Amino acid sequence: MNIILLGYPGSGKGTQAKVLSQKLGLFHVSTGDIFREELAKDTPLGLEVSGYLSAGRLVPDRLVLEVLKSRLSKETRGLLFDGFPRTVEQAEGLDAWFDSRETTLDAVIFLNVPEAEVAKRLGDRRTCPKCGKIYNLGTKPPQKPDICDTCNEKLITRDDDTPGVIWKRLQVYKDQTEPLLAYYKSSGNFYEADGGQAPESVAAKIAAMLDGK
Ligand code: AP5
Ligand code: MG
Repeated sequence: MNIILLGYPGSGKGTQAKVLSQKLGLFHVSTGDIFREELAKDTPLGLEVSGYLSAGRLVPDRLVLEVLKSRLSKETRGLLFDGFPRTVEQAEGLDAWFDSRETTLDAVIFLNVPEAEVAKRLGDRRTCPKCGKIYNLGTKPPQKPDICDTCNEKLITRDDDTPGVIWKRLQVYKDQTEPLLAYYKSSGNFYEADGGQAPESVAAKIAAMLDGK
């Protein structure tokens, strides 16, 4: 099964992807995580994408598609995309890539959350730099302040979770990613989930939507 999670920054794509990929045995593909890992390792790719991430702008389509094709060329599991595609050009590139592998897209799940809610969530987000676990000071705080429950590592605030960059990312989403909703709505595989509910309820709704697929 191949699935795309779509939605505003902060709509819960990463949170849901972690649960869903485990449950369905899918390979979780987060382009944002890939770029942040490269950045942390100071690789040439990390240096190339650094300015885009810190400004909240999109990495150019050509580069995103190149990176994904090379990363996924040997992957045989079903794929769960989180944060990709983000433009119509990327979606067309993905369609062509699926065709070349004689596989198909099974579901596009849109996590619908109001803009004011996602802005608040992003400001309150903390993540573990070691295991990637996602917390929220308001809705999902760690047991000990600023410490990961799983690996005891000190939690961090993502560099792009500052008020100015959050605002920019929301604008970029509206300008460049929202058109994807129309692109996928006509596909017959488009599902919308109310992402404003508690994470467990959202996960249950998604599971019900995919039941029988
Ligand atoms: P990326 O890492 O993909 O960031 P994003 O799309 O901005 O999304 P986020 O990771 O911020 O949010 P999320 O939806 O995963 O929410 P989360 O689950 O963490 O991209 C970063 C950058 O990389 C981009 O700006 C761009 O520069 C570049 N990039 C990446 N992909 C690209 C591409 N394809 N093309 C070009 N450039 C690309 O949840 C957020 C918070 O809310 C957390 O605190 C969480 O605990 C909380 N939360 C989650 N669900 C709920 C809930 N149901 N109720 C209450 N709180 C919740
Ligand atoms: Mg994410």
